[in-house]
Amino acid sequence: MKAVVYTKYGPPEVAVLKEVPKPTPKDNEVLVKVYASTVNRTDAGFRSAEYFVSRFWSGLFKPNHQILGCEFAGIIEETGKQVTIFQKGDHVFGFNDKSWGGHGEYLTIAESDAITTIPNNVTFDVAAAITEGAHYALNNIKASEIESGQNALVYGATGAIGSAAVQLLKHFGINVTAVCNTKNVDLVKALGADVVIDYQTKDFTKTATRFHFIFDAVGKSSFGQCKPLLTNKGVYISTELGKNVANIFLALTTPIFGGKRVLFPIPVMNKETVIFLKQLVEKGEYKPVIDRQYILSQIVEAYKYVETGQKTGNVILKIAD
Ligand SMILES: NC(=O)c1ccc[n+]([C@@H]2O[C@H](COP(=O)([O-])OP(=O)(O)OC[C@H]3O[C@@H](n4cnc5c(N)ncnc54)[C@H](OP(=O)(O)O)[C@@H]3O)[C@@H](O)[C@H]2O)c1
Repeated sequence: MKAVVYTKYGPPEVAVLKEVPKPTPKDNEVLVKVYASTVNRTDAGFRSAEYFVSRFWSGLFKPNHQILGCEFAGIIEETGKQVTIFQKGDHVFGFNDKSWGGHGEYLTIAESDAITTIPNNVTFDVAAAITEGAHYALNNIKASEIESGQNALVYGATGAIGSAAVQLLKHFGINVTAVCNTKNVDLVKALGADVVIDYQTKDFTKTATRFHFIFDAVGKSSFGQCKPLLTNKGVYISTELGKNVANIFLALTTPIFGGKRVLFPIPVMNKETVIFLKQLVEKGEYKPVIDRQYILSQIVEAYKYVETGQKTGNVILKIAD
């Protein structure tokens, strides 16, 4: 089968399209013929190992799993002997940051992992983009313990995580203020944001609203900058470590005092989350934003685009028609 393989950490060029053996499912696994995947910041982060800490998961000196692609959508081609939930021919999607494999024509995954049948109203391309941004957004929303009727601010509402966060917060009955660029104001309004601040014309820190939760989905702000906008027990979460790893330090110290806090939750993905997201998609309450698509042979170009930090939502990697 064809797959994008990386044998060492580094720039986009370390990802090479190759012929590799098709995987065989273990007794508790399914073999998925992948139709679509995404190229996202998680794939890019593990490939580059820009943050050394990622190597504790992916391999200290070289990657343990050489085919990236944490998101996938496709059709089950084979089931292991002990598989009971899925059957050959099922259309499925999911998230796999344990053994990865979405950037290849076939992958294997345990049936108990984050995989379920695709929502009945979407294509493989859309299904492939459901999980990554939404998974990080959901973990952070849950950690903030925000409740229906409270205010949240999403900074960077046009990324994969930010665009999912706006929709998920609205699902939970939160009043959402979203910050984005001029060209995406209408998009972010359509995602459900109650108030949209265009950061190119307005300074979001001057808003009079106070928030229980400020979620910096692109890691471009700081706690110091956002603290005045938080309510007394408000929570600030960023998707990045911050200058001099400040967000980790603050997550360890600010909760001790019980006032305005920084959190840095470790994201956990499981089958319940994919099923929850599937149900939201079927109810029309969540729709992943799609920017553009590439094919396997364009992987380097795809990574370079994703790493500009300027994609709008998700970038699809088309594997089969
Ligand atoms: N902690 C983790 O495990 C984890 C996992 C995945 C991703 N991440 C991190 O999470 C962040 C978001 O990932 P993502 O995939 O959602 O991002 P993304 O899709 O790459 O975000 C890009 C979007 O952010 C907007 N943006 C860029 N600079 C901005 C600024 N200063 N103010 C407001 N908006 C800005 C861009 O629009 P404009 O530039 O046009 O405004 C673009 O639409 C990244 O920093 C990534 O490294 C963390």
